[in-house]
Amino acid sequence: MLQDNKTEITRKIGCGYEVVRIGVRDLAKPRSLPSEVFTNELETIVNDPTIDVVLELIGGIDPAGALVEKAILNGKHVVTANKELIAKHGSRLVELAKSKGLDLHYEAAVGGGIPLVQPLKHQLAGNDVLKMMGILNGTTNYILTKMQVEGSEFASALAEAQGKGYAEADPTNDVDGFDTAYKISILASIAFGKQVPMDGVHREGIRSITKTDMQYADLLGYCIKLLGVVQPTEAGKVLVRVHPTLLPKAHPLASVNGVYNALWVHGDFVGDVMFSGRGAGSEPTASAVIGDLIDVGRNIMAGGGGSAIPYGTGMQTSSIDELTTAYYLRIQVTDKPKVLGVIATVFGDHGVSLAAMEMKTLDQGRGEIVFLTHPCRERSFCESLKELSATNTIETVCNWFRVESAVA
Ligand SMILES: NC(=O)c1ccc[n+]([C@@H]2O[C@H](COP(=O)([O-])OP(=O)(O)OC[C@H]3O[C@@H](n4cnc5c(N)ncnc54)[C@H](OP(=O)(O)O)[C@@H]3O)[C@@H](O)[C@H]2O)c1
Repeated sequence: MLQDNKTEITRKIGCGYEVVRIGVRDLAKPRSLPSEVFTNELETIVNDPTIDVVLELIGGIDPAGALVEKAILNGKHVVTANKELIAKHGSRLVELAKSKGLDLHYEAAVGGGIPLVQPLKHQLAGNDVLKMMGILNGTTNYILTKMQVEGSEFASALAEAQGKGYAEADPTNDVDGFDTAYKISILASIAFGKQVPMDGVHREGIRSITKTDMQYADLLGYCIKLLGVVQPTEAGKVLVRVHPTLLPKAHPLASVNGVYNALWVHGDFVGDVMFSGRGAGSEPTASAVIGDLIDVGRNIMAGGGGSAIPYGTGMQTSSIDELTTAYYLRIQVTDKPKVLGVIATVFGDHGVSLAAMEMKTLDQGRGEIVFLTHPCRERSFCESLKELSATNTIETVCNWFRVESAVA
């Protein structure tokens, strides 16, 4: 992109630029640029006094974190795509950059090519964010779309994603929700002005979703998506959570399929806004990185000062037990009289009321029942489940998921 769009990028920054060095691990790998530009001694980049801006595109904490810090201490602006680094150390590093009049930008860390960080920092900043929900991981969205459209089970959809290069050999980071957790915590930190600690993010992945759940969800008018969700709870606290969610087909996020990502924001003045596009891949990511680089270049040309926007530390987070939402529950029961009565009584005793139900007869005197509840406290729902599991009415609690409504 720096080569192909050089004329336009130069015009927009207001001066020329030169790629001085590219740090890599393996110098023997074939590259499309002249070999003299590459080095595997990354310290030489962050210590080079002729370099103004460092783009950190290594990933992970070590050695990227120390290199970013060294670059800032040596007076260099930094652009990074590193979600883990920003989610864990963003507040401290941005503060450090700001204190030195430097920029530290990280648009590519969340949503690849989709502008999310800058709109939250600027255009939406005057709003109280009442809720944000994002499909922030292309791998899991690809897998869930396959399961929904083609009726695949999780394992075969994952294998296909791996075959196409959308999922890594070790898919943990994606399918267990870590990647989404980093991203939603960064967005929450910007929106609410303090870094959300990673251990304050409730995280569940998509491994437990089955084709059967997808089919019932479809029948009831929902799809299942891995969402990162943030909403304020009591004053000064937020609930940040990542988990599979039944989303009404009418919700704008429900039509975001395959490797596409999206963020839906509900602000008190702006109302509902949704951003969507390609959340990963080299070209969309380059688009975000170079956008940040142009911003840095413009700031340098304007005389410096930097436009990093610091946020504090120690955002307080609420427990998932405090959540109030609707639930989907799939259970298998012994097909005998009064089963429904027992279930309704246990739910009713915990203040959980039922909104919809689907039933199917299985083999050998067994039945499968799916319930949707009205919104209730997570704690009450889980207590009902515990009590139901202890009765001899229910054979198996197959699965349960949280359910979003069509409007905020
Ligand atoms: N890929 C995406 O779609 C995407 C989207 C948004 C954000 N990001 C973020 O971008 C960053 C990079 O991801 P990627 O997918 O581009 O990873 P990648 O393909 O593995 O590239 C990493 C690059 O960093 C170099 N590198 C890694 N460790 C190094 C070390 N210890 N010393 C020197 N060089 C090292 C590698 O060198 P070699 O070439 O020699 O291996 C490679 O060039 C991550 O923070 C990721 O979260 C990626």
